[in-house]
Amino acid sequence: MAIENPRAGLAQGSFPRRLLLRSSLELSSLWPTRPAIAVMRKLHGVQLTTAQLSAVAAAVRKRARCKLLVFGLGNDSLFWLGLNQGGVTVFLEDNLEWFHRITKRSKKITAFMVKYDTRLCDWRSLIESPASLNMALPRQVTDVSWDVVLVDAPEGWRARSPGRMKSIYLTSRLVSEPADVFVHDCNRVIEDAHCSKYLGEENLVAEIRAPVGYLRHYHITTRSPPTSG
Ligand SMILES: C[S@@+](CC[C@H](N)C(=O)[O-])C[C@H]1O[C@@H](n2cnc3c(N)ncnc32)[C@H](O)[C@@H]1O
Repeated sequence: MAIENPRAGLAQGSFPRRLLLRSSLELSSLWPTRPAIAVMRKLHGVQLTTAQLSAVAAAVRKRARCKLLVFGLGNDSLFWLGLNQGGVTVFLEDNLEWFHRITKRSKKITAFMVKYDTRLCDWRSLIESPASLNMALPRQVTDVSWDVVLVDAPEGWRARSPGRMKSIYLTSRLVSEPADVFVHDCNRVIEDAHCSKYLGEENLVAEIRAPVGYLRHYHITTRSPPTSG
């Protein structure tokens, strides 16, 4: 079925279309089988692949009603929220327009705007200076130890992008012990380097490859100690 604008959200479209979008979300959240996730993904225009979504979903379900932190709002946000019903799900976003576009889809979304002050081109100096990768986060984020974290933001593909240096580093500090961490776009040098340094090569469980980006799964048993600054 052809979807003209998968990013339009649930608020737009005809009644049957809205019903279809909502049903696919509910079905895939309640029964996250691959076919249900594949349909939801296609209808909603989610960028992560079915295999990648399924891997994260399996970790969330395994730790039922878990504490789930997601860097980046997206067309998959309502799926994560529904999947983790009864748990705590929080999203962090740095693009204000995108923040409003996604959060207006449901009052149940808990999301915070954050500001990354890094530039992708500075990553080589930043990686050796963990204190510079710290940043202010809301207490609703720092007061929680997160069981599952999905890092799919901020933007990290052009020189002036903030890059994912901070989101990967902060994840290493915010996780529970143990925790499952998923990082998208690990085919890129910066994500690869920061994951290896701060999440640990020894903790790598799987890498799910796709043309849209590789998703790595890390199982962390010991969180990084706090740094000053
Ligand atoms: C890389 S996307 C991935 C979203 C979701 N996990 C998915 O697979 O579809 C997430 C980030 O892209 C940025 N973004 C901005 N405009 C966007 C758009 N039109 N579509 C998707 N992401 C957008 C947002 O700031 C957001 O934090």
